[in-house]
Amino acid sequence: MSNLKFWQDAIVYQIYPRSFMDSNNDGIGDIPGIISKLDYLKELGVDIIWLSPVYDSPNDDNGYDIRDYKAIHKDFGTMEDMDKLILEAKKRGIRIIMDLVINHTSDEHPWFIESKNPDSPYRNYYYWRDKPNNWTSFFSGSAWTKENDAYYLHLFSKKQPDLNFHNPKVLDEVKDIMHFWLKKGIAGFRCDVINVIFKNTLDDGKKRLVLTGLEHYHSTEGCHRVLKTLRKEVMDHYEAFTVGETVLVTTKQANELILPEREELDMVFGFEHMETDQINNKWFKTKFKPKKFMRTISRWQKEVYWNANYLENHDQPRSVSRFGDDKMYHKESAKMLALLNLTLKGTPYIYEGQEIGMTNAYFKSIDEYEDLESKRIYALGKKLLFPKWYRLKMLRNASRDNARQPMQWTKTGGFTLSTPWLKENPNKQDINVFDSRKDPDSILNFYKKLIKIRKNDDILKKGSFNDLYISNAIFIYERVYDGERYMIVLNMSKKIKRYPFEVYGDLVISNYPDRANVLRSYEGLMIKVSK
Ligand code: NOJ
Repeated sequence: MSNLKFWQDAIVYQIYPRSFMDSNNDGIGDIPGIISKLDYLKELGVDIIWLSPVYDSPNDDNGYDIRDYKAIHKDFGTMEDMDKLILEAKKRGIRIIMDLVINHTSDEHPWFIESKNPDSPYRNYYYWRDKPNNWTSFFSGSAWTKENDAYYLHLFSKKQPDLNFHNPKVLDEVKDIMHFWLKKGIAGFRCDVINVIFKNTLDDGKKRLVLTGLEHYHSTEGCHRVLKTLRKEVMDHYEAFTVGETVLVTTKQANELILPEREELDMVFGFEHMETDQINNKWFKTKFKPKKFMRTISRWQKEVYWNANYLENHDQPRSVSRFGDDKMYHKESAKMLALLNLTLKGTPYIYEGQEIGMTNAYFKSIDEYEDLESKRIYALGKKLLFPKWYRLKMLRNASRDNARQPMQWTKTGGFTLSTPWLKENPNKQDINVFDSRKDPDSILNFYKKLIKIRKNDDILKKGSFNDLYISNAIFIYERVYDGERYMIVLNMSKKIKRYPFEVYGDLVISNYPDRANVLRSYEGLMIKVSK
């Protein structure tokens, strides 16, 4: 691999707009707020921003339920603000990608409202049937809701009806939306749950503990066809890329979506490494098992053509709370995870707040949660007679609100001057951007250092990946390019460990100030191995 595409040579930073920066003090983050922080992102070394949805929406699922694909939600500002954001980012050499949510619209989208009339030309934009099948939704419960005399399909909430990609008109609408945004100068899309958009049949599914029906819509040929069309008729006309959110994909299925000759997507977010601490579904967590986690990452590194490397996003708990130790070894473990995130082969994605080591929310009461998925699972748990303490524990470990607390800019928060839409974490006192910038030893400054190294380094950007040791919570891998070699050594535990073999070379970066002959708690280092 000699010449990298711009998206292969980039650091991507995900912004969850509601929680990033509130400029007008209504408690909700907004686009002018993002503009005011572009210099911060530039200083960090960000090349591309992935913006979670800012479209007009009734906000049942915080913007993943779109009412108008060509309008900005009033909470976030105006189309002028959005144009300004694209322009101001461009001035700083930063590109923007947007979320493309096309599996479903909002039930308040005019197409859906029209489709309620059986004689409307929009009827066939969605799946309306006389009887529901046995499919279950990603948010638990049936995937069908009755409206008048018919049922409509929704793989997510009942306010997110699924679009029918058997109808060529739906595809035309999607092409039009994509052209609209790409013409404005955005650099591509993160494609929401893109591998479930095409339903082969609406037959009953095999009964499963979760997601009954999955075999009828997961990674279908129809989905590949849709993606090929969008690539050829839209994406190929711009300097832009796509990253797919692809639930439950194997490495083989990932490659079938991203290999260049397939001409579909450019990269995908896999979930397998995020599933290594759960049983069956995310609400039932096991203890974090470093070996399983590292093996999974390593397999994706070796088998997938080009990876989108991430440890956090707006749907996942905070990585330092999940894979590290956010109490005793907050700094060490957050930095060790930074090393992992930024030294793998592929495009690194950083989620807002990860760069300062923001932690899980640790809410104590259900009233503190805002996320609809969390509320639904809490209610379902109650029906199933799960004790209250257990339901709260499920949320504390896995709720999406863990990642959605307002960005911690200063000791007092700095996100808003009024009441934030979701409670701030009291640890903003100690974990915030203001203090992190001043402390040379901070997580933030470690990220900056590492990003700088990566930017000027062909070994990290282009080198091959080989794992050398995965055991006993130690992960050692090498990156090799043009005869030069880095070795990355990570201790993913608080226990002090012996090196499994001797490691020689020059230290490039480490999360401890010096080098010892043992691996200390959550130690991570990168060594340049002499030829
Ligand atoms: C995946 C998104 O990341 C998540 O936040 C959303 O709830 C679902 N897709 C439905 O759009």
